[in-house]
Amino acid sequence: MAATDLPSPQPRDALTTADAAVHVRGVTKEFGTGGSLTRALRGVDLDVPYGELLILAGPSGCGKTTLVSIVAGTLEPSAGEVMVLGKDLVAMSNGRKVKFRRENVGFVFQSYNLLPSLTAAENAAVPLLIAGWHRSRAVEAASEVLDKLGLGDRLANLPSVLSGGQQQRVAIARAIVHEPRLLVCDEPTSALDAENGRITMELISKIAVQPDRAVIVVTHDSRVYSFADRIANMEDGRIESVQAGPN
Ligand SMILES: Nc1ncnc2c1ncn2[C@@H]1O[C@H](COP(=O)(O)OP(=O)(O)OP(=O)(O)O)[C@@H](O)[C@H]1O
Ligand SMILES: [Mg+2]
Repeated sequence: MAATDLPSPQPRDALTTADAAVHVRGVTKEFGTGGSLTRALRGVDLDVPYGELLILAGPSGCGKTTLVSIVAGTLEPSAGEVMVLGKDLVAMSNGRKVKFRRENVGFVFQSYNLLPSLTAAENAAVPLLIAGWHRSRAVEAASEVLDKLGLGDRLANLPSVLSGGQQQRVAIARAIVHEPRLLVCDEPTSALDAENGRITMELISKIAVQPDRAVIVVTHDSRVYSFADRIANMEDGRIESVQAGPN
C-alpha cells in the first residue's frame, strides 16, 4: 500500500466536521445598517462534540441567543461556516432547513413561543404532530414528558392560565419530545425554582449523554453549571474562553 493510501492520524482534540455535532467557524451576524448597525457576532468559532452538554454563558447582549439561533437554523449568519450534524446549514435551501430542523433539532426559546390556542399537552406534542404521528399517540407521549417535568395535572390547560415556570416547562417538553439529536435551550431554567430547575436539567442532560446527540444550554444560572461538560464564555460577539465543566 502506498503511503498516501494510509489514513492520516487524527489528533484527539482536532475535531473534524464528522466528529462534531456542531462545527462553527468565523461566524458573524450584523443587524441593521449604517448608524443602526449592530455587530452581534464578530467571528465565532465553536465545536460541540457528540455526547456533550455545552453551556454558553456571558453578559446580556453579548450574542448568545443570536449564536444559538444560527446553530438551530432559525437565523442566517452574515458570514461564516455552520455545520450541524454533518450538514452545511449555510448551503441548505430554506425548505430543506425547515425539514432538517423539524427532524433533528429541539429549540427552547427564551420567550417560550407557545401556541395560545393549544393546551399544554398539545403544545408539547407539536413536533410529533408535524412528524405525522396520530394525534392521540402524540398527545400521550407529550403528556408523559410533561408528567416527568411535574406538569401531569396541567395537561389540559391553555398557556394563558399557566405560570411562567409552567409555560417554560411546556416549552422544554416540546423541545425534547421527539428526542432531537441537537437540543438547544436558551435560558431553560430562568423561571424555575431550585427543585424544578434540577429536574429539568436532569432530563435535558440525559439527552446529551447519548453518543449521537449534543446539547447547548444558554444560561446565567450557576446552578446549571454542574451539568456541563464544558462552559463557553461569550463576550461582545465572541467566544473568549472555553473551560471544562464539573460534569
Ligand atoms: N433582530 C434584531 N435586530 C437588531 N438587533 C438585534 C436583533 N437581535 C439581537 N440584536 C442585538 O444583537 C446583540 C446580541 O443580542 P442577543 O439577543 O444575541 O444577546 P444575548 O446574549 O442573548 O442577551 P440576553 O442574555 O439578554 O438574552 C444585542 O446588541 C441585540 O440588541
Ligand atoms: Mg438571549
